[in-house]
Amino acid sequence: MKVIDLRSDTVTHPTPEMRKAMYEAKVGDDVYGEDPTVNRLEALAAEKLGKEAALFTVSGTMSNLTAVLTHTHHGNEIILGAYSHIFLNEVGGAAALGGVVMRIIPNDENGRLDLDDVEQAIRGRNIHYPETTLLCIENTHNRCGGAVLTAHYTRDVCDLAHKHGLKVHLDGARIFNAAVALKVPASRLVVDVDSVSFCLSKGLSAPVGSMLCGAKEHIERARKFRKMLGGGMRQAGVIAAAGIVALETMVDRLASDHANAGRLAKGLQKIDGISLAQKEVPTNIVMFDLAPDLPVDRFISGLNNKGVRVGSRGGGLFRAVTHRMISAEDVDEAIARIEVVVRGLRRKA
Ligand SMILES: Cc1ncc(COP(=O)(O)O)c(C=O)c1O
Repeated sequence: MKVIDLRSDTVTHPTPEMRKAMYEAKVGDDVYGEDPTVNRLEALAAEKLGKEAALFTVSGTMSNLTAVLTHTHHGNEIILGAYSHIFLNEVGGAAALGGVVMRIIPNDENGRLDLDDVEQAIRGRNIHYPETTLLCIENTHNRCGGAVLTAHYTRDVCDLAHKHGLKVHLDGARIFNAAVALKVPASRLVVDVDSVSFCLSKGLSAPVGSMLCGAKEHIERARKFRKMLGGGMRQAGVIAAAGIVALETMVDRLASDHANAGRLAKGLQKIDGISLAQKEVPTNIVMFDLAPDLPVDRFISGLNNKGVRVGSRGGGLFRAVTHRMISAEDVDEAIARIEVVVRGLRRKA
């Protein structure tokens, strides 16, 4: 039985073209700035995002933390959405290692922060207050079902932050999914932010790595923080080579992941006992709820027995993510298997 793994787009393996590029990569010591393949990847990422410079990091978590360290000082406050990945899923690194206070405001269901909430969260000058120096936003929004922030919204929230002297960092782990969904170049979606990180190792299928992009001066300082975090890699061209293939060949195909996510959502909706936890499915993430009268633990074990893997988000909330290693046929098969499991639970309920 084929296991249909919908836990995350991070489970994608490198393509044969990536493996060949990795094998043939020209390398040098990147801490000395001498790895030609890393240098090419950084130049390519900066160009694609319309920023002056880019930095190759180990992970999205390291990129985001490096950005926070670069934009802030110990004791500053940063504003984030309550559902943001940086707040929920990055081990509290911004607070633990960056020494910043994380000020949380609500995300709406589309991953946006309300502009009034942002403005109210920005501290005024007062001896009792930490200084607010950074706003973080997320596009696409993981916890909000792959929701997409438009260029228009991003400009408005950046204008507001900049008016108050804050910098804006965009966690754009899946920014190319947003670009494909909105049919605009990724550079359009990040033009107003001060820094953006994106992942090569998710839907773009590279085995490792993320990029932090921004102004030359910001990236130069970020390079030092990356070193502090232990992220100074040596002959990293071996993995950067896969990142170049990812950026050059894997972006347009994300549209088929989005179509498959729509197909999955449609099929799940028809199952008695499952409801979608989002109104629309704009990209490759589907959040769904199991009916409260059905046992979550038995749903999970039933899916495991049937060879379907999804992410459990606590309670009866689940996440399914489509990616390059999932075909339309796999989606149909997953729906059929999930339906069998839910029907079994209903019979026993
Ligand atoms: C929105 C978002 N940001 C950041 C990350 C962190 O990326 P990594 O797993 O490479 O640390 C993820 C990973 O799922 C993510 O979904």
